Amino acid sequence: MSKKPFYITTPIYYPSANLHIGNTYTTVAADAIARFKRLTGHDVMFLTGTDEHGQKLQRIAEEKGVQPIEYIDEIVAGIKSLWTLMDIKYDKFIRTTEDYHKKAVQKIFKQLYDQGDIYKSSYEGLYCTPCESFWTETQLVDGKCPDCGRPVEKAKEEAYFFKMSNYADRLIEYIETHPEFIQPESRKNEMLNNFLRPGLQDLCISRTSFTWGIPVEFDPGHVIYVWIDALSNYITALGYNSENTELLEKYWPADVHLIGKDILRFHTIYWPIMLMALNMPLPKQVFGHGWLLVDGGKMSKSKGNVVDPVILVNKFGVDAVRYYLLHEIPFGADGLFNNEIFIKKTNSDLANDLGNLLSRTVTMIEKYFDGVIPEPQVKESLDEELISLALNTPKLAEEALDKFNAPAALDHIWTLIRRTNKYIDETTPWVLGKDEEQKPRLATVLYNLAESLRIVSVLVSPFLPSTSEKINAQINATNITWDSLKEFNGTVFGTKVCKGEAIFPRIDVEAKLAELDKIAEEAKKAAAVKEMEPIKEEITIEDFDKIDLRVVKVLECEPIKKAKKLLKLKVDLGGEVRQVVSGIAQHYKPEELVGKNVVLVANLKPVKLRGELSQGMILCASTDDDSKLFAVNPGDVPAGSIVK
Ligand code: ME8
Ligand code: MG
Repeated sequence: MSKKPFYITTPIYYPSANLHIGNTYTTVAADAIARFKRLTGHDVMFLTGTDEHGQKLQRIAEEKGVQPIEYIDEIVAGIKSLWTLMDIKYDKFIRTTEDYHKKAVQKIFKQLYDQGDIYKSSYEGLYCTPCESFWTETQLVDGKCPDCGRPVEKAKEEAYFFKMSNYADRLIEYIETHPEFIQPESRKNEMLNNFLRPGLQDLCISRTSFTWGIPVEFDPGHVIYVWIDALSNYITALGYNSENTELLEKYWPADVHLIGKDILRFHTIYWPIMLMALNMPLPKQVFGHGWLLVDGGKMSKSKGNVVDPVILVNKFGVDAVRYYLLHEIPFGADGLFNNEIFIKKTNSDLANDLGNLLSRTVTMIEKYFDGVIPEPQVKESLDEELISLALNTPKLAEEALDKFNAPAALDHIWTLIRRTNKYIDETTPWVLGKDEEQKPRLATVLYNLAESLRIVSVLVSPFLPSTSEKINAQINATNITWDSLKEFNGTVFGTKVCKGEAIFPRIDVEAKLAELDKIAEEAKKAAAVKEMEPIKEEITIEDFDKIDLRVVKVLECEPIKKAKKLLKLKVDLGGEVRQVVSGIAQHYKPEELVGKNVVLVANLKPVKLRGELSQGMILCASTDDDSKLFAVNPGDVPAGSIVK
């Protein structure tokens, strides 16, 4: 019988910096699913890779004074070694700078243009460079990018557009009639209500403001929008638009695109529409998992709270990290990465439950049977409960994992592990061992323990591959196929066990926590030495002269009701009193400002903020994320003095 194909993908990551535990989470989850599918007899294609184009990467390389590809090659090498460290067994790694991908994407673009889905026009909007996204004024949150909270820039360019609206109705209908397409369920409604039903705008899909991208074949001043380039990877990796489309025929449509919820919109709107336009079937499912949070919110490099998987693996072993990611992050929802919970879970679930089960079993076989797994002889009804649970668990784990619910699958496996530990307490082998007449019963008990461990070892192998190998080595398990779990007799009696080191040595919680805290402290300090914001476009002295800056004295200052960030000030310009509204309420108490000199942009067009007239703007120095802000202090000069 030929095996059933199963195609799973991760996002292709931006090689803008080393990956952190968040990216690692997606990849580990995909790896566990891929391994499980291989184990259960599927022909698996597990794709991951890197998304190597875009303005952000070009800028980083420029700042470092190297070619983009030089910078990227180094990061990609690091990503690949991270996947080796994490025991990720992917079948293919795609880099979007590879020739076959670039050619295929150019052909996709050309086809869509030729058939009228793409047209040329011009674009004006607000652009967030890190996210590679254009926004409209109304989409901004506090004037900043709604996705990442960073400032946006005005941008206008001649550009190609994709007529998304042509396909919107078809997509809405598809989503409504295929409830499994967007998972979890809640995300489906978010996409329908927030993006699709209000009406889709045509998508700008080319850029002329930078060059680091795939050029439009028939109009080389334009590079193809990075998301069109990136999303195509899921089919170009299989040979779409190439000589050899064997893999494509076998594996497309994908069984699942596993992604974080941040990029759901791209995968459930733009990507399906592209595929519809290409007359290709849609992926069977897009699964948007939640965020991995750290204490204090989302991980971010500028906060210096990024958790580095390499440090954790080096200290605690790869499977401790894999177990935490796969078991502790709730299915489809946000979850916390916390060092203390991580260490305690490793101790309780891995060192105690699993590690002790193995070491007790092997030790007793050595002690009572010279290390040879005995043939079972005397059965008791007590055994039945363990055996039926052991035979039932594979099915339960498989059902959970078919819904990509790794935590539930692991819960089922740990129920068996704990039940097996309880079986030791119930059968008290150390009591049986004192009585020569009980030896036949003891033989059965120890056989059952070894057999239960063998089943556990096969079951955990997709999640904790190296732990599974270590267990197999100690109990000398040779039947390790999925089929061998159908019966409770796969352990070969007469073979020798081989006691090894503890598979999860107990961790000293306090000592290790202190070590991790110290590393975190240092990372925070390093993050404080930040990369410089790029300098804005050059201006002339005439440009500068247009700005009228005056020293003003603050006469009065009060908060504005229901506007947390705003203060209302009366300022003296040395001959005129003006009202100014300023967004500094989170940094100054009103009384701190009264009597102070500050600098006013005096010829700024007046605006109304929250119904209050603001005649000018107060100059402030602020950190990138506006967490710290200081009104510029001009010193002790008379009100009205000109700043130039
Ligand atoms: O978005 N918690 O790449 P990217 C959980 N190149 N998962 C997280 C996470 C966190 N805190 N942070 C990141 C891109 N991720 C595009 C994708 S696909 C055609 C192109 C994971 O490097 C999560 O899977 O920013 C998220 O979707 C992905 O990293 C984003 O990686
Ligand atoms: Mg991102």
